[in-house]
Amino acid sequence: MIRKKLIAGNWKMNKSAGDGATLVKDIVDEIGRETSVEVVVCPPFTALESVAKALEGQAVKLGAQNFHHEKSGAYTGEISAEMLRALYVTHVILGHSERRTYFGETDAFINKKVITALASQLKPILCVGETLAEREAGSTLSVVQTQLEGGLKGVALDQITTVVIAYEPVWAIGTGKVATTAQAQEVHAFIRDLLTKLYGAPLAQKVRILYGGSMKPSNAAELLAEKDIDGGLIGGASLEAKSFVELVKAAAAAN
Ligand code: 13P
Repeated sequence: MIRKKLIAGNWKMNKSAGDGATLVKDIVDEIGRETSVEVVVCPPFTALESVAKALEGQAVKLGAQNFHHEKSGAYTGEISAEMLRALYVTHVILGHSERRTYFGETDAFINKKVITALASQLKPILCVGETLAEREAGSTLSVVQTQLEGGLKGVALDQITTVVIAYEPVWAIGTGKVATTAQAQEVHAFIRDLLTKLYGAPLAQKVRILYGGSMKPSNAAELLAEKDIDGGLIGGASLEAKSFVELVKAAAAAN
């Protein structure tokens, strides 16, 4: 298996410090020593420290949902890469559609964060995906291409395999509407082709491409069986230990 499956939970604006620690303890108890899948949880900033403590000595990794690319300074309300690293954060979600939509994040701004994350030993999980209107207009692939090329500008050959890409069709996020396996695989294969053009086949084959958008235990096995779907970025189903652990097990079975 050239690419280890990855299941990442994006808790979004959910879970207090205490509730987050309880959730990961339950997850870790259930997953046990499952090491065939890489597992990452991404709590809100305020729960990072308590979750990091609860994960001490465990294989489950810690991710953040955002950060600011400057090292320090007058950026009210922001958090730096160094601050995250001090809390044992290893991954960071960047360019999520909710940040693009509600906070006006552009490809150029997201790109600055990708570059800084890589320089700061944080693994970026770069999200791309089209809206329903863009899909209906037939522009899915061009939207994904623009976001991917914009987000990866300046990422060097020796850095690309550290980056994780997440394809999240906006119309499937939190809506219960999952992309069909064929729809998802088509875009994942397109992303792999683009990576091949930019970085060459041997490196492109090593990059994980996650699917996100209403992924849950009932549809995960089918999605994860696709050739270019290397895991999931999970919202709603990551908020309960039972469903999240079932997704980890589905990924282990798909290896
Ligand atoms: P849902 O799984 O709730 O659809 O959210 C997906 C997502 O946005 C993960 O980043």
